[in-house]
Amino acid sequence: VNSKRFYHPKVIDHYTNPRNVGSFNKTLENVGTGLVGAPACGDVMRLQIKVNDDTGIIEDVRFKTFGCGSAIASSSYLTELVRGLSLEEAGKIKNTMIAKELSLPPVKLHCSMLAEDAIKSAIKDYRSKRAKRGPTLGPDA
Ligand code: FES
Ligand code: FES
Repeated sequence: VNSKRFYHPKVIDHYTNPRNVGSFNKTLENVGTGLVGAPACGDVMRLQIKVNDDTGIIEDVRFKTFGCGSAIASSSYLTELVRGLSLEEAGKIKNTMIAKELSLPPVKLHCSMLAEDAIKSAIKDYRSKRAKRGPTLGPDA
């Protein structure tokens, strides 16, 4: 089967040349890790964000997706979206934005949902780690 007949060129592009694949050491204090699965098909996505503790800006991001082409493309595109955003902004990303950009068909909507769940989960993880460390001390505290 020629997958190009079924997938939008943007999906093929992200799938064949995924951005920001890899991982950070999840024990790093300023790294949040999200690990989510899609009940519909069993695919799994891990997304990690590296956050500037002072500004709350996502400075870097990595993903690993064990799943279909649409899930890989959704996570790759998501990493491009969230770099440079604040946690608040990144938390507002909706799967419909991803699905629209990649022209995902209805049966593949849950693949983009995986990406939305993954960024939410990574933000939650970062915030709970951050809260455990207590308030930021200034440079001369
Ligand atoms: Fe086959 Fe997700 S259902 S890869
Ligand atoms: Fe399940 Fe794409 S994530 S088919």
